[in-house]
Amino acid sequence: MEREKLEEVNSSLKDRSLEKMKKKFKISKPKGKLGVLIPGIGGAVSTTFIAGIESYKQGSGKLFGSLSQMGTIRIGKRTEKNTPYIKDLISLANVEDLEFFGWDVYPQDCYKATVKAGVLDRTLIDNLKDKLERIKPNKAVFNKKFAENLTGKNIKKEKNYFKLALELIAEIKAFKKEKNIDRLVMIWCGSTEIFFKKGKIHESIKSFEDALRKNHKGISPSMIYAYAAIKCGAAYANGAPNLSVDIPALEKLSKKNNVPIAGKDFKTGQTLMKTILAPGIKSRLLGLNGWFSTNILGNRDGEVLDNPKNFKTKEESKLSVLEHIFQPEINQELYGDFYHKVRINYYPPRGDQKEAWDNIDIFGWLGYEMQIKVNFLCRDSILAAPIVLDLIIFMDLAQRAGMYGIQEWMSFYFKSPMVGENLYPEHDVFVQSMKLKNTLRFLAGEKNIDHLGLDYYYE
Ligand SMILES: NC(=O)c1ccc[n+]([C@@H]2O[C@H](COP(=O)([O-])OP(=O)(O)OC[C@H]3O[C@@H](n4cnc5c(N)ncnc54)[C@H](O)[C@@H]3O)[C@@H](O)[C@H]2O)c1
Repeated sequence: MEREKLEEVNSSLKDRSLEKMKKKFKISKPKGKLGVLIPGIGGAVSTTFIAGIESYKQGSGKLFGSLSQMGTIRIGKRTEKNTPYIKDLISLANVEDLEFFGWDVYPQDCYKATVKAGVLDRTLIDNLKDKLERIKPNKAVFNKKFAENLTGKNIKKEKNYFKLALELIAEIKAFKKEKNIDRLVMIWCGSTEIFFKKGKIHESIKSFEDALRKNHKGISPSMIYAYAAIKCGAAYANGAPNLSVDIPALEKLSKKNNVPIAGKDFKTGQTLMKTILAPGIKSRLLGLNGWFSTNILGNRDGEVLDNPKNFKTKEESKLSVLEHIFQPEINQELYGDFYHKVRINYYPPRGDQKEAWDNIDIFGWLGYEMQIKVNFLCRDSILAAPIVLDLIIFMDLAQRAGMYGIQEWMSFYFKSPMVGENLYPEHDVFVQSMKLKNTLRFLAGEKNIDHLGLDYYYE
């Protein structure tokens, strides 16, 4: 067959399979309340997020940084000048309909925990006192082995992991019934657990459940929460770099139970900057000799990460980003030998107001060397809160659309995006943004945008 004909057939096949998929994903309307389940509800990210939502409900807080609330999306050709808000294109859950429920190792209610986190102004927090005081953490499923630096005592007594999962399931069901909840999303905002690799017990649903029953050392608390969530039909997103739902057994369970899952590690601060800068450097074929990143931060997250075993989990997550963007195996001369170092230093005086420094050694034409210095004075939880909101809203959308298993289009929000077998993750934030927006266009029944644009110039 001649080439043109072949391309025509290919594109019509692609269109037909997209059409078939469209029929598969029929979105139901978001009615009633959306229950938000948060392990780590007393932490800096969770409390900044919840206080932000309550402040918005009171009419004062603005949800800056949230794509689901403030983002727009182009539909059709540029000449059509059609750029609606995402929330006007596709039916999303209302922020007013979110209902919170969570667990924490520390017993303080959400008001006290927000004050303790030290991210938001005291006046803002005090204005929300009534609302925040009502949110109290349930006793946590916790194992000190996975986060040694935590000393809280608000922990469930049961020792058997399987029974602990059943306890979580019972709590989730009771919450759903009591608050008349329609749908559920769980988001892990708990501390980063220590680094370990997946093994045999993480392979099948059966081996995982056996391991739960036998209190196997390869089962971390976040896996127990993820298991309970999926069993209850709650979508699950993992904001930390530890494995949690990123194991074959739980992926299989999520497919079996029609539950969407996503992770890992919220992409904020330094890594966000990295995945903004690195694609630019690469696109102009500037070479890279080295990238040195260091941080100071003084919140509880920093305290947990001060333990080398927990830092190792974060380090792995942060390091993989550049390898994937620069593709040294393909671009040997430019990126074959760059040195990448990441440091996190726990420095209490800074609290949540992290400061990050990057020194980037690059080279250009004829090998002449140059340097870029980045000094980002950011606020960790302020950057993470809108991500939490978007993940809740989009994971609920996925669930209503009948999507299940890994949601790669959520990569935009993660440092170590979960992807299907044999796929490498996309780290370039612009590719991730395009993937997310094209998925939204697709779900809304609109054409994807590929930015070719030749149609403006040629018939
Ligand atoms: N803030 C950011 O920008 C950012 C970015 C990427 C990832 N993260 C990750 O998000 C998570 C939350 O960050 P944070 O700054 O709020 O940390 P944090 O230390 O303030 O909060 C974590 C909370 O989780 C609780 N916790 C720990 N183990 C638990 C368990 N098994 N069950 C219930 N609760 C448990 C802790 O008691 C604590 O209150 C961390 O894992 C962090 O690494 C944060």
